[in-house]
Amino acid sequence: MIKVDIKKVCVIGAGVMGSGIAQVCAQSGYATNIVDITDEILKKGLENIKKSLSKFVEKGKIAQKDMDETLGRIKTTTSREKGAKDVDLVIEAASEIIDIKKDIFSNLDKICPEHTIFASNTSTIPISLLGSVTRRQDKVIGIHFMNPVPLMRGVEVIKSIVTSEDTLNTSLKFVDSLGKESVVVKDSPGFISNRIMTLFVNEAVKLYETGLSTIEDIDKMTRLSFNWPMGPFQLIDLIGIDIVHDMLESIYRETGWERYKPAPLLKRMKEVGWLGRKSNKGFYDYSK
Ligand SMILES: NC(=O)c1ccc[n+]([C@@H]2O[C@H](COP(=O)([O-])OP(=O)(O)OC[C@H]3O[C@@H](n4cnc5c(N)ncnc54)[C@H](O)[C@@H]3O)[C@@H](O)[C@H]2O)c1
Repeated sequence: MIKVDIKKVCVIGAGVMGSGIAQVCAQSGYATNIVDITDEILKKGLENIKKSLSKFVEKGKIAQKDMDETLGRIKTTTSREKGAKDVDLVIEAASEIIDIKKDIFSNLDKICPEHTIFASNTSTIPISLLGSVTRRQDKVIGIHFMNPVPLMRGVEVIKSIVTSEDTLNTSLKFVDSLGKESVVVKDSPGFISNRIMTLFVNEAVKLYETGLSTIEDIDKMTRLSFNWPMGPFQLIDLIGIDIVHDMLESIYRETGWERYKPAPLLKRMKEVGWLGRKSNKGFYDYSK
């Protein structure tokens, strides 16, 4: 592992990704603050971290002492000021909505020290757009983790046309220090992973909408055909229906390519709050 200058990290968002990112940062020795909008969400995020660490302990992958020390490095707060005022790196993992992220970035620019690097975990929003609301565009970068963060090794690092080489190199070293592997990608909607993934899951929903097959059979056939661990509907439920929908919308808006237009069923499910695993109901039922 390479030693980096970053010592303290702030993760914005305690959802599916934010809690996972905070966990791996704290596991790797970084003092980690998590910021979200309510105490209840923060409590749930912390519970998810505890659950995930407990599984590692049960499997003998880490010791109980490691779990306790990791949790000791995590602080939660609803105050952005408190959470971000003295950190070296902010990783924003809030909802995939441009206005929310722009507001966070412009506000952080006033709160954080000059040297602080701003990373976004966005799946589709241009990094240059997020950087444009700050006075530190050279220090804004994309660090795109995969779900579930504690288990998935791949990370896309996104360099905008104004991101500096220093910011890129520090970010690459940081990702390496988490025990992850990275590739550098240009600032383009969906980067590599989501350009491919969203297209494949959207097509599966469209297939289902035409009545060609059932959810279970489409999942079964893709698992068996490609030796994938899960089918498209299981994957959408894991990622979150809202997130998949918003990613598609964002790539569609940027490219204008019809194939990225979200399948209507995704829109309907988002509207009624069937968001997948996180709401206990998506294409499958998780309430039992
Ligand atoms: N879910 C995935 O598989 C996945 C994978 C890679 C990247 N991403 C990206 O990660 C980001 C987060 O996705 P997620 O799946 O964790 O979403 P999520 O809905 O689980 O969590 C988002 C969190 O952001 C919080 N939030 C909203 N506004 C906020 C604000 N102003 N300040 C602080 N917190 C705020 C919400 O309360 C929520 O807890 C998105 O940009 C998404 O595109 C998601």
